[in-house]
Amino acid sequence: MTSRERFLAALRRVPHDRTPVWIMRQAGRYLPEYRALKAKSDFLHMVRTPDLAVEVTLQPLRRFAQLDAAILFSDILVIPEALGVGYRFRDEGGIAMERSLSSAADLATLRPEGAADRLTYVYEALTLLRRELGDRKALLGFAGSPWTLACYLVEGGGSEDFPRTKALAKSDPAFMHRLLGLLADAVAEYLRRQFQAGADAVQIFDSWAAALDGADYEEFSLRYVRAVLERLPKDAKVILYAKGKSPAAAALAATGVPCLGVDWTMPLSRVRALADRPVCLQGNLDPVLMTGEPSAAAAGARSVLVDNADDPGHIFNLGHGITPDARIETVQAVLEAVAAG
Ligand code: CP3
Repeated sequence: MTSRERFLAALRRVPHDRTPVWIMRQAGRYLPEYRALKAKSDFLHMVRTPDLAVEVTLQPLRRFAQLDAAILFSDILVIPEALGVGYRFRDEGGIAMERSLSSAADLATLRPEGAADRLTYVYEALTLLRRELGDRKALLGFAGSPWTLACYLVEGGGSEDFPRTKALAKSDPAFMHRLLGLLADAVAEYLRRQFQAGADAVQIFDSWAAALDGADYEEFSLRYVRAVLERLPKDAKVILYAKGKSPAAAALAATGVPCLGVDWTMPLSRVRALADRPVCLQGNLDPVLMTGEPSAAAAGARSVLVDNADDPGHIFNLGHGITPDARIETVQAVLEAVAAG
């Protein structure tokens, strides 16, 4: 069985030989080969140059034979940029947007028409990757959820809990709905083009889902995730990652996606019970284990597999992105533990 077959079988919850595995942000500062490339270039240049994006995407697959999927090297913030709001990394860490949006006048400055057309470098990178990987490895694309992208656009950058964005959703819901509708259109078209370019599956990152509770989460986030899904083919292979929202697994599963990405705060068995329908789960080792001893992380990985209780609908991953201080020998030990089953 190839990695790609294994990955697609897990998404469909049909039996296969072993749990497929990839790691969120498998590219990144924990890899010396990534740091070496970045020393000669910079993040945004690498994102925008298909040959470099392909190279960074493939680096972890060359190092770790156990990886079953490649995830495109890019960023969720390319959509705001294509709409007319660029981004950069602050020297002290974190993300700064070129400007923040808070009024109808600000919305009028965005360029929603043809936004997805301005991201041809992404489709080119995917096309090259598909050619390179053939049918051996799965290829993943991704986008931010409308809500998570709105958080960066309204806040004007990264934040712990996005207070401005939450306040504006309350004080000017009409503005927020217009912004979210426009983002949903752009994200849907962007993901359609990623599938066309050869992605086997796409992940939607609702990284800041937990900023919203209950009815607000439904109104300002889930509704627009559904708007994206409605514009994709009915059987589109989508992994929905809503960080901090495992307690709402039933609502997430009700979107109809074949797979939920799960953070490390709730066992997979519990999420499965809450989900209320058979669904593939991706996750969910605590990323902090990757900074510690290989044996402890491998034991953690085995617990995740045991907790999944042999359900064929499981893709092994971390519960969030890998951090720059992850240890390579620990990553190796986790991948070996998963491959050994
Ligand atoms: O797994 C992969 O390597 C795929 C590529 C990928 C990146 N970003 C590359 C990246 C993916 C899937 C993302 C998604 C992304 N980007 C999300 C959603 C996932 C999540 O983390 O919840 C978000 C919120 C972003 C925005 C973003 N980009 C943040 C918060 C950061 C960290 C900023 C900081 O101060 O460190 C980034 C940078 C980023 N994106 C890196 C990589 C490899 C690190 C770049 C570097 O330091 O060289």
